[in-house]
Amino acid sequence: MSVQGKKILLGISGGIAAYKSILLLRLLVKNGAEVQVVMTPAAKQFVSPLVLATLSKRPVICELAEGDIWANHVHLGRWADLMVVAPATCNTIAKMATGICDNLLMAVYLSATCPVMVAPAMDEDMWQHGTTKMNVERLKGLGFQILPVGKGALASGLIGEGRLLEPEEIYKYIIAHFQPADKPLQGRKALVTAGPTYEAIDPVRFIGNHSSGLMGIEIANALANAGADTTLLLGPTHLKAGDLVHTIRVTSADEMYAAAVSAFGKTDIAVMAAAVADYKPGNAAEQKIKKSDAPLHIDLVQNPDILAYCGAHKTSNQLVVGFALETNNEIENACKKLERKKADLIVLNSLNDQHAGFGTSTNKVSIFESDGNTIDLPLQSKKELAKELVLLMINRLHEKNQ
Ligand code: PMT
Repeated sequence: MSVQGKKILLGISGGIAAYKSILLLRLLVKNGAEVQVVMTPAAKQFVSPLVLATLSKRPVICELAEGDIWANHVHLGRWADLMVVAPATCNTIAKMATGICDNLLMAVYLSATCPVMVAPAMDEDMWQHGTTKMNVERLKGLGFQILPVGKGALASGLIGEGRLLEPEEIYKYIIAHFQPADKPLQGRKALVTAGPTYEAIDPVRFIGNHSSGLMGIEIANALANAGADTTLLLGPTHLKAGDLVHTIRVTSADEMYAAAVSAFGKTDIAVMAAAVADYKPGNAAEQKIKKSDAPLHIDLVQNPDILAYCGAHKTSNQLVVGFALETNNEIENACKKLERKKADLIVLNSLNDQHAGFGTSTNKVSIFESDGNTIDLPLQSKKELAKELVLLMINRLHEKNQ
């Protein structure tokens, strides 16, 4: 899913956060969108029209009339597939809510026949003010999409709510806007683990494994493409998921566990495809361990089990999917894991099958379900397999929520 060929009006109003609109514009243009920038006069004090015109390859428009040229706001309003106002200051939101038409941005907004997305940015007190809340509610009531605000350092020097979302976050909302409506997982949340974990022995060395993360990444992509709001907890790997997936990079099993525990409660589907180390050194050395003639012993202690946590805490509406990577007694071991970790499904891959398991672009799996059902799938690319697994998950989630 992309913004390729989409016509977007980017409205910029005058606030410190306007600098982020340059990065948003660059993302949109890089991904094939046609962008027309419309600025308020105040926004010119914060970002240079020259930079925006150069990046968008179109003149930036700001005034209703400049010299003997009149900007045709009606044409612009009808030209666009989407209008994004980012940043939308407190003042611009107030004007939008009341229809005050005292600059070109407002004239274009009032002429727009396309959907409008608003990314607010202001100081916390202004964001919390009853008047702003009323204006925001009014815009929502008119059918406009109001994006959330971020929390952090504000222009005033205070810390709080009101920051403009990061350009990448706004871009994700824009992509989601252009998704086809027939998304079976729209409104659902998915959590996926992928990749290896690294367990520190000392500051230099770790215990790890050969997982590339690809299997879990493809599952996260497939879930996101099916409309799920997808979070991927990704161990150390050079691979990355698509733009629709919210990726959280982690290193150790403890970090992955903590992130999973905090996300699991709100999750509809949890898929544990990571190769999590079962053990970690009990005490990682603070300094690099020096070589000596004596044998080196490292005491290992067990890591928390993320899949077992999800299985133990799942409600009857949540679907929990685990993987099993086996080298011997594959079916028996996989079925034991299904039962012990209280998963709904276990996807078994064996290192005895060629081109399956770690580090390959393909995989061959068998699925074991808690009701005794078994499905054998042929060798196929991890991308295709992920799509097939997600179809199965959609069916199972549907059955649980009937
Ligand atoms: O990343 P790739 O190179 O694409 O390879 C894909 C894969 C082989 C890693 C993947 O298909 C796979 O099999 N992942 C699970 C690997 C594994 O660790 O299996 P396991 O049998 O040890 O663990 C069973 C299940 O418990 C898994 O869902 C695992 O994520 C989970 N687990 C294990 C230990 C732990 N501490 N926490 C867990 O959640």
